[in-house]
Amino acid sequence: MAGELTNRVIVLTGAAGGIGRATAERLADEGARLVLSDREAAVADVAAAIVAAGGEAIAVVADVTVAAQVARIAEAATTAFGGVDVLVNNHGAIVGRSFLETTEEDWDRVHDVVLKSVFLVSSAIIPLMLGRAGASVVNIASVGGVIALRNMSAYGAAKAGVVHLSKCMAIDLAEQGIRVNAICPGVIDTPQPRQFAATLPDPEAAFAAFEPLHPLGRLGRPDEVADAICYLASDRSSFVTGSALIVDGGMTAV
Ligand SMILES: NC(=O)c1ccc[n+]([C@@H]2O[C@H](COP(=O)([O-])OP(=O)(O)OC[C@H]3O[C@@H](n4cnc5c(N)ncnc54)[C@H](O)[C@@H]3O)[C@@H](O)[C@H]2O)c1
Repeated sequence: MAGELTNRVIVLTGAAGGIGRATAERLADEGARLVLSDREAAVADVAAAIVAAGGEAIAVVADVTVAAQVARIAEAATTAFGGVDVLVNNHGAIVGRSFLETTEEDWDRVHDVVLKSVFLVSSAIIPLMLGRAGASVVNIASVGGVIALRNMSAYGAAKAGVVHLSKCMAIDLAEQGIRVNAICPGVIDTPQPRQFAATLPDPEAAFAAFEPLHPLGRLGRPDEVADAICYLASDRSSFVTGSALIVDGGMTAV
């Protein structure tokens, strides 16, 4: 397939999830060669569908909180494609708890999967990106890391860490020509906001409360985040680094 990412090797984590699957399909449409990873075995189905449609994709089942498993993503990318051009850290998980109910275990689990994992995956993959033109890292953060939202102490703090880490990486890696940006989505219609609502006392009311937060009057769609990822992965954003691109239907403008 030919497109604006033709022959770019892209590692995408969380590829079995809502935003991940939409992004994998969009990147494949643009001609990318994909290393799709997730801790869920369903990531193999996402890769198989892309291959069946004429694209190039391999799947690696790995838990991004475990360095030895992250190493397998790097090994697979090297073996299949000989290097990496773009890394998209999209994996994530959420716990909905008010501050006083947040346990040390919640805190550690969320920080491991949201923040430490971005460090682990980036540390393993970025060495494979050195010396390649157009190298780009895209970290999926959240509006929860930009503004304070109820019941999101651990998640919001970890996502704010992802925004800041992205900026620090951008200035450290600028010399090597590697751009690093974050994306901060509003509430996107995937399993994650439903999982968040399900951990709260009245899940239906919690889920219904999301829509009015967005001046555009609806939740975002996974393909709308995939578009932003595609932009930051491509040379269209060649002078964009250290930014946090907000894709939230106006939620943080209020
Ligand atoms: N959906 C939203 O409203 C929303 C809003 C803001 C930010 N985000 C962020 O967007 C990203 C994608 O979320 P989504 O909405 O598609 O959610 P999702 O739950 O559909 O997908 C997340 C994926 O990450 C994977 N994952 C979780 N823990 C993992 C681990 N330890 N190792 C490997 N894979 C793991 C899951 O298996 C899943 O496939 C996440 O970083 C999320 O925090 C989502």
